[in-house]
Amino acid sequence: MGFYEAEKTHRVLSIVTAIAILVVFQLLMWPSSVSAEQEAELPDDQCVRCHQEMEILPEGFVPHDVHLQDGLSCAGCHGGDPTSDDEDAAMSPEAGFVGVPSKSETSAFCGKCHSDIEFMRGYLPRIPTDQIAQYATSGHGKGLAAGDVKVAGCVDCHTSHGILPASDSRSSVHALNVPHTCKRCHSDAEYMSGYGIRTDQFEKFAESVHGVALFENQDTGSPACNDCHGNHGASPPQVESIRQVCGHCHVNNMLYFNASTMAVAFKANGFHACEECHGNHGVKKTTDDMVGVGEESTCVGCHDGDAGYRAAEVIREHLRELVSAYEEAEVWRTEVHRKGMDDVEIGFLLQESHQNLIKARTLVHTFDPEKVGEMTTGGVAKARTALELAVEQVEEYDFRRRGFGLATIFITILIVALFLRIRQMEAK
Ligand code: HEC
Ligand code: HEC
Ligand code: HEC
Ligand code: HEC
Ligand code: HEC
Ligand code: HEC
Ligand code: HEC
Ligand code: HEC
Ligand code: HEC
Repeated sequence: MGFYEAEKTHRVLSIVTAIAILVVFQLLMWPSSVSAEQEAELPDDQCVRCHQEMEILPEGFVPHDVHLQDGLSCAGCHGGDPTSDDEDAAMSPEAGFVGVPSKSETSAFCGKCHSDIEFMRGYLPRIPTDQIAQYATSGHGKGLAAGDVKVAGCVDCHTSHGILPASDSRSSVHALNVPHTCKRCHSDAEYMSGYGIRTDQFEKFAESVHGVALFENQDTGSPACNDCHGNHGASPPQVESIRQVCGHCHVNNMLYFNASTMAVAFKANGFHACEECHGNHGVKKTTDDMVGVGEESTCVGCHDGDAGYRAAEVIREHLRELVSAYEEAEVWRTEVHRKGMDDVEIGFLLQESHQNLIKARTLVHTFDPEKVGEMTTGGVAKARTALELAVEQVEEYDFRRRGFGLATIFITILIVALFLRIRQMEAK
């Protein structure tokens, strides 16, 4: 057996041994780890035992429900005596069994613990204890108090036997799942008929810049329904609060808007801050054409030939100037890069110029041509400097190339001359 074959056999043997050890290890670990997990997850009392044995676990039951995991058994919510294996004794009203709550009883049913600060502190000090109070102020809560059982109650949003914290991706109230939880009712035209509320919120949201970021990019920094409507105080934000809601995340847009003359006019006329130009559920990616006097402008709906109209025109022109200066410089930068010349400084200037453009677009919310102009002028200056540098680099490249060409011709002539000279000398 040659050296290489011996080594190959050796290698195969070690792989086989490793696999065998792994298999044995798995066989030893596997059955015990699974059953240990199941025992750890479900409280070991008579309620669970009997219901499991008789296979009368409620619909939607999952063993990882947060209450069962923390030892709060069936009896925690339903009452009764969890130590008795007798059906009647365990589930007797004398033992505190409350049975199945009706929808209007659910708030108090959950609130027994969730509104009890002392009790909750013993388990999970971080979570608030105001859900029931908050819920009562919401459109849903008011509806339920008035006897409307079609509104969302605790169980509609959280389920009853598969409750998980919002941080768990399996939870019905996890950021990525909330829109689907609301959709069940709010996109069902038949269910919602009679309320006079639109049923297109989910559809529009899913196509919006926020929905795409949330669903497609899993960007939980983008709002789900509850980020704008609240978790338990779910009601549409009123005129005053809409810009507060958007401003939680778009801080500068809100600050500029609030300080503008338009804000005063909007308030006086009852216009809805951000919503008037961006909508609510269908917020789209923005473009420069949304300002100005063109077809896609948001300004011309309210302004025609007045001071606002002129302001819109000037703001649009400022933005156009910066965009074209930036783009021209960018074309030259690409050329510098292609030629393998140094474009670091140019790239840096262009980055700064682009920052000015981003800031100018936010400054549109001052509706002040001067403020936007200040920012774009700075950006144009940076783009121009970048352009000059790029042109210089390209010219230097051409100069060098010409120089190289000349040098090549010169050297060729020299070689030919030398060659001729050598032959001349040889001939002698
Ligand atoms: C020995 C078996 C057994 C034990 C122990 C037991 N249950 Fe039950 N439970 C049943 C059976 C059987 C039913 C269905 C009977 C029926 O529909 O009336 C039931 C029904 C229920 C229901 C639904 C009642 C309804 O009105 O629909 C709830 C809630 C419930 N059990 C909770 C509990 C809780 C909490 C405990 C522990 C304190 C418990 N059970 C202990 C057998 C048991
Ligand atoms: C977090 C509180 C909570 C816990 C814990 C809980 N339940 Fe319930 N259960 C409810 C609520 C609320 C309802 C009524 C709403 C509904 O129908 O979903 C209900 C309804 C039921 C029903 C009748 C409806 C159905 O789906 O069959 C049964 C049976 C039941 N529970 C059994 C159990 C058993 C058994 C356990 C323990 C394994 C348990 N529950 C643990 C809150 C709870
Ligand atoms: C027996 C008391 C009790 C009842 C009744 C109860 N809960 Fe809880 N709940 C708790 C405790 C304690 C926790 C914290 C568990 C833990 O340590 O993670 C909790 C956790 C939760 C959480 C997760 C909170 C988080 O962010 O970690 C939600 C959601 C929740 N409960 C909803 C409900 C709903 C809805 C009901 C009514 C159907 C209900 N609970 C009934 C005691 C209760
Ligand atoms: C319209 C849907 C909806 C309803 C109705 C609702 N919740 Fe919630 N709840 C949520 C959402 C969404 C969150 C998670 C928020 C987050 O991302 O942290 C939440 C979070 C919670 C939490 C975790 C602590 C907290 O406050 O963030 C508890 C506990 C809770 N809800 C209990 C309840 C109880 C009890 C009821 C009934 C009075 C109820 N919820 C009704 C949507 C709802
Ligand atoms: C179980 C069905 C159901 C679920 C789930 C539900 N809702 Fe509702 N919601 C309703 C009904 C029904 C109304 C109408 C109440 C009324 O006008 O009296 C309503 C009203 C509202 C309103 C007030 C509309 C208005 O103009 O008065 C808002 C906002 C709202 N829901 C948001 C949400 C959000 C956000 C979620 C998810 C976190 C959600 N809802 C989940 C049934 C539901
Ligand atoms: C970016 C913030 C935002 C998000 C995300 C959002 N909403 Fe809204 N929603 C609003 C605003 C603003 C209003 C309008 C309030 C007004 O005009 O008084 C509104 C209104 C509503 C209404 C009242 C009826 C209507 O259409 O005017 C319902 C119901 C509603 N939203 C449900 C939802 C649901 C369900 C989702 C998730 C699929 C959702 N919203 C996501 C901001 C938001
Ligand atoms: C929870 C935070 C949050 C809230 C609340 C919020 N947004 Fe956003 N918004 C974002 C994020 C994150 C993005 C970027 C999404 C992406 O990746 O494209 C965004 C994107 C946008 C854009 C597109 C920006 C662009 O570059 O074209 C507009 C316009 C916008 N939001 C307006 C609003 C309005 C109007 C509201 C209130 C009705 C609102 N937002 C509420 C986080 C939020
Ligand atoms: C009068 C119309 C109008 C109102 C009101 C308005 N916007 Fe805008 N918004 C615009 C226009 C026009 C643009 C596009 C600017 C551009 O790209 O040149 C824009 C762009 C944006 C952008 C993307 C650019 C950036 O700043 O990142 C966001 C985010 C945004 N708006 C949020 C808001 C928020 C939040 C509010 C409420 C405080 C609001 N807008 C109010 C017209 C408006
Ligand atoms: C929903 C209607 C509405 C929209 C959309 C709107 N405006 Fe206005 N704007 C007003 C009202 C109302 C006033 C105050 C009345 C007035 O002074 O002409 C005003 C005032 C102004 C003013 C102050 C004028 C002055 O006399 O000092 C400027 C500037 C302005 N708007 C610019 C814009 C620009 C730019 C846009 C588009 C990005 C825009 N507006 C979009 C309603 C609107």
